Amino acid sequence: MKELQRIKGTQDILPEESYKWQFVEAITRRVMHRYHYLEMRTPVFEMTELFARGIGQLTDIVSKEMYTFADRGKKSLTLKPEMTAAIMRAFIEHKMYARQPVSKFYYIAPLFRQENPQAGRQRQFHQFGAELIGSSDARADAEIIDLAMQIFTEIGLNQLQLRLNSVGDADSRKAYREILKDYIRPRLDQYCPDCQRRFEDNPMRILDCKVETCTGLNQEAPKITYHLNQASQAHYSQVKDQLTRLGIPFTEDSSLVRGLDYYTHTVFEVTSGALGAQNAICGGGRYDLLAEELGGQPAPAVGFAAGMERTIMVAEAQGLSLGRIPAVDVFLAALGEQAQNEALIWLKKLRATGLHAETDFQNRSVKAQMREANRLEARFVILMGDNELERGVLTIKDMQQSSQEEIAAADVPGYLQQKTGNGDDRA
Ligand code: HAM
Repeated sequence: MKELQRIKGTQDILPEESYKWQFVEAITRRVMHRYHYLEMRTPVFEMTELFARGIGQLTDIVSKEMYTFADRGKKSLTLKPEMTAAIMRAFIEHKMYARQPVSKFYYIAPLFRQENPQAGRQRQFHQFGAELIGSSDARADAEIIDLAMQIFTEIGLNQLQLRLNSVGDADSRKAYREILKDYIRPRLDQYCPDCQRRFEDNPMRILDCKVETCTGLNQEAPKITYHLNQASQAHYSQVKDQLTRLGIPFTEDSSLVRGLDYYTHTVFEVTSGALGAQNAICGGGRYDLLAEELGGQPAPAVGFAAGMERTIMVAEAQGLSLGRIPAVDVFLAALGEQAQNEALIWLKKLRATGLHAETDFQNRSVKAQMREANRLEARFVILMGDNELERGVLTIKDMQQSSQEEIAAADVPGYLQQKTGNGDDRA
């Protein structure tokens, strides 16, 4: 029969990789909790309309990349392509605005976009991210950026570039649309068909087009940053001032427009030279109008999301160690029928005290079992033969000291616990 394979653009995270993920996830959770962000988990699929309304019909994500399907009831459902719209949907649905004025959430989640797979770009990928909902204060923007950078710092990433821009409030954007259309109109026939389609309804999307002729034409286009009204300029200045106070270096990039339509005011991206073409490790910004777009009360908000795969790629390119597969504290080599029958009971006792314990499941010779213990980098080996069991003792081999001693069986768990320093995991 034909061997089945995984779907293009997806990845199996094998044990020799998954411990790295756990390492990054543990740092992420630790830092998120210190900044008092609490975890929100939302379903892996949602009504398609959520993303169409939230991210924007004319974005690449919604128009080309979503995994959308009809369920048996003919409802149109979509695998989440991003988290922000889902978090806002849950925030509104559970009336979380009634609990406290400001809500802070984080997530670590798989997401789905039908893009052309390449290094750092997959169809199922994973993000960690945070959303702060309920404040229009520039300090909220700065905290979100600081939080993202702090996680990268604690992972050990360096030489990241933070690019910052403002796309202004609704009024600034409305005025800018006309200015932009005036620039594009005489050149419209040189733009790609997608851009020509976007011209009337969403000309700002044109600035995010990746087609070469369009990016060339866009280079001379007026920049929104130079057309902000006073309130938008003030907000942008305050964000920059807060980042400077925090000692977070940034580069202003007036050509930075993000691939999602919900942004207002601040937008930012963090990039790494270690990543090649797909160089954004993290993106985010403010989205003050999304709550209303989704039918809720107004709720100004700001957030970021970082790619897990790309974060790990950058860490590895830097040669960082991302934890290790845990070593075995003790390998139990059971010799003889009675000992093999007792082996699981002994393992259970050892494991219950917090020790990381393993045994042989193939009834192999002492020599083969010692080889296995070595492969697992076991710190100790318990040699348990029928003879020892009768005498109520066990032989403990210290693999580092190359020494061995006989110990009363009842004292073994305490002895090993003391030697390895491994106790109750919850202590
Ligand atoms: P985004 O820029 O679409 O923003 O994605 C954020 C990050 O997710 C990217 O910088 C990248 O590291 C990673 N990423 C995106 N697509 C892929 C892919 N196909 N394969 C691998 N990694 C990928 C958002 O998703 C917004 N929701 C961010 C946000 C949160 N804005 C406000 N709050």
